[in-house]
Amino acid sequence: MYRRLDPERMPQHVAIIMDGNGRWAGKRSLKRFFGHQQGAEAVQYVVETASRVGLPWLTLYAFSLENNLKRPRTEVNFLMRLLKSYLTNNVQRMNDNNVRIQYVGRTEELPEEVRERMRYAEEATRKNTGTTLTLALNYGARSELVDAFRRLVADVQRKGLCPEQITELDIHRYLYTAHMPDPDLLIRTSGEMRVSNFLLWQIAYTEIFVTERLWPDFRGIHMLEAIEDYQRRERRYGGLSDGTESDDVESLPANQMVV
Ligand code: FPP
Repeated sequence: MYRRLDPERMPQHVAIIMDGNGRWAGKRSLKRFFGHQQGAEAVQYVVETASRVGLPWLTLYAFSLENNLKRPRTEVNFLMRLLKSYLTNNVQRMNDNNVRIQYVGRTEELPEEVRERMRYAEEATRKNTGTTLTLALNYGARSELVDAFRRLVADVQRKGLCPEQITELDIHRYLYTAHMPDPDLLIRTSGEMRVSNFLLWQIAYTEIFVTERLWPDFRGIHMLEAIEDYQRRERRYGGLSDGTESDDVESLPANQMVV
């Protein structure tokens, strides 16, 4: 294990918004495609590091639903080809590293030849017990919520339940990620301070780490540095930190009141 990490405080789930492939290529006067190609290499390095340090869940935002609509057709086609070859060429390495692959998103809308490769990689790595790599493909958090609510409402109607009976746990159970823990740490590359419609429900209490590094330059060591930073933080889950008391406004002298 990377010696600066505390094995007692390892995150269970790290999610990454991989961004900056286009800028990486632009800085080198290369076509965007090269950035994506290098980005796919970076994916594998990071996955193998995750497996080496025993991270149970790693989720990567590979293709957003919105982005796929906005990118030029040729670029989307290239990304699909890249994904297909990634899934074909890395299955052996996934197995060597005990990595299981799965997907979230409206994957049914992806081209059939991509879905065929997805099924192949999922099936071939199904028995692995190390890191679960989840690729978010054609994913958008709001559409995930729409999909969840559609199924939830249908079940509520079918079972004749009343709306008051719906709990947060029920909503969680209808998400694509129902079987996964929420991310402890969300990393975003290339410096943007946005969550870009990624896992909105699930990141309610997630720690966020933004790095200026562009995704094609991101390696396992950078993920470990982000985890190290995460381990230095005190998580509060919406509560107050230990040792402080809640502000009892009633007991404060009027001149100390901050409104
Ligand atoms: C954003 O770069 C990144 C993506 C398109 C998502 C990540 C995709 C890959 C790493 C390619 C292959 C993926 C797999 C799983 C094999 P951008 O084009 O938005 O960069 P920019 O903001 O600099 O233009």
